[in-house]
Amino acid sequence: MNVMTRPDHAATRAVVDAPTLAAHATPKPNLLSVEDAKSLDVARMTDLFKAHLNPGQLHFMKLLGFHKVKVERAEGMYYIDQNGRKILDFFGGFGSLALGHNHPRILEARRKFQEEKRHEIAIAFMSQYAAALAHNIAACSPGDLDMVFLGSSGSEAMEAAVKVAERAAGPKRPKIVYAENSFHGKTKGVLSITDGQLYRGEFKLVGNTVRVPFGDIDAIENAFRSDPEIGTIVLETVQGGGGIIQAPAEFWQKLRKLCDQYGVLWVADEVQCGVGRTGRFYAFEHYGVVPDVTALAKSLGGGKTAMGAMIARREVYMKAYGTPKTAMIHAAATFGGIGEACITSIEALNVLYDEGLIDNAAATGDYLLARLSALQAKYPKIIKEVRGKGFMVGLEFQDFSQTLPMVLRPMVSLLDDKLKGSLSGFIGALLLRDYDVLVAFTEYNRNVIRLEPPLICRKEHVDRFVEALDSLLARGITSIVKDFLKSQVG
Ligand SMILES: Cc1ncc(COP(=O)(O)O)c(C=O)c1O
Repeated sequence: MNVMTRPDHAATRAVVDAPTLAAHATPKPNLLSVEDAKSLDVARMTDLFKAHLNPGQLHFMKLLGFHKVKVERAEGMYYIDQNGRKILDFFGGFGSLALGHNHPRILEARRKFQEEKRHEIAIAFMSQYAAALAHNIAACSPGDLDMVFLGSSGSEAMEAAVKVAERAAGPKRPKIVYAENSFHGKTKGVLSITDGQLYRGEFKLVGNTVRVPFGDIDAIENAFRSDPEIGTIVLETVQGGGGIIQAPAEFWQKLRKLCDQYGVLWVADEVQCGVGRTGRFYAFEHYGVVPDVTALAKSLGGGKTAMGAMIARREVYMKAYGTPKTAMIHAAATFGGIGEACITSIEALNVLYDEGLIDNAAATGDYLLARLSALQAKYPKIIKEVRGKGFMVGLEFQDFSQTLPMVLRPMVSLLDDKLKGSLSGFIGALLLRDYDVLVAFTEYNRNVIRLEPPLICRKEHVDRFVEALDSLLARGITSIVKDFLKSQVG
């Protein structure tokens, strides 16, 4: 065939010729450019947020003082705002920033991938990037957790997890056990096993669920024994949204035995606690047990992309989707295994081990816990408990909703319900305002601050954080509340 007459060549010429057309048929709407986006100021961002994103959310940002910050850059342990202020990040994107912000090896891998004009969408052909990432994830996973499904979020990974388990359990065992205070995502399937009333709204949820207290092995055994339709149990290994709640090793060991005894599949949600955060790649590795299905997301994306993965034991996967007839039931979605996201995650897993970040999470996490425990001993009337593992730490404050000084109660009660009497809100807001430190809050327990710094966090960062907190707590409750109230009018 004459090369000049190939239709694809004609198409290329048409694209090249397009700018010379006299007039575009479709007028361009009023679009902002990339440079416009970068240079929006706080006032304009607020307007756009109100007009197009989530007006109600601004209310909470204002309470915490977050609405004044425009992040211009982010590097390592820090956000850098419009005034050049360096904000120490102990929030860590709820565990999404194991490598910190903009790790140079991640930037380099992505730059090279772009310059080489690699392909992204892998629907028609096999993707070498998806294949290599699946290999890496399986290599990081114990036992025969070998089969990998790639998606773009924790919710998608968890949807894949409950679906593979349901199919493998079979049509006679569709029921799923989940835990009180669980969080597994906001898409409709996993919302049905997410315990928060706030998120459940008044949606009509998927049925066939059984709720048990987290860590209660007797309740689980009762459920398994009394209901043969139960085929799956889904648990976060460490509850994040619940306020950094752990169950003891013997709970997990008994759970594994019970699941084997009753033929129930155990799905471990490691979206937040996985990828090294607790000092092991998976948190369940602390307990010497292996689930049937698990899920990762957040830090799997190297802090630079959206990546989620469901990982199943081969036998479970093959039962669910192992034949040509069943293979496409839950094959990857359009963006599942997209090229640049895969190479970002491949590099992220390499960096995690090359830089010893899992070991650092264990050692420096212990140091953080020890320093916070010392602070608890110093302020027992303010700090109720310090708990966690590695860099997944919860700091629970005493509940002051009933005991706040009388003079402050009317003022505080004017504030939103969520913050009323909750020291964590006041402390989080003042840590940012006065000490340039960012911490995270907890959906189900307003008295808990969540600390999930990047795994690159060193002792000096811990020292800086603990000294800031110490200095703030030394003001005493009344001053903290007053300072917070002042910040609302200032
Ligand atoms: C334990 C757990 N599972 C699932 C999810 C859902 O992940 P995503 O927000 O990426 O959909 C989250 C998110 O916070 C989570 O913490």
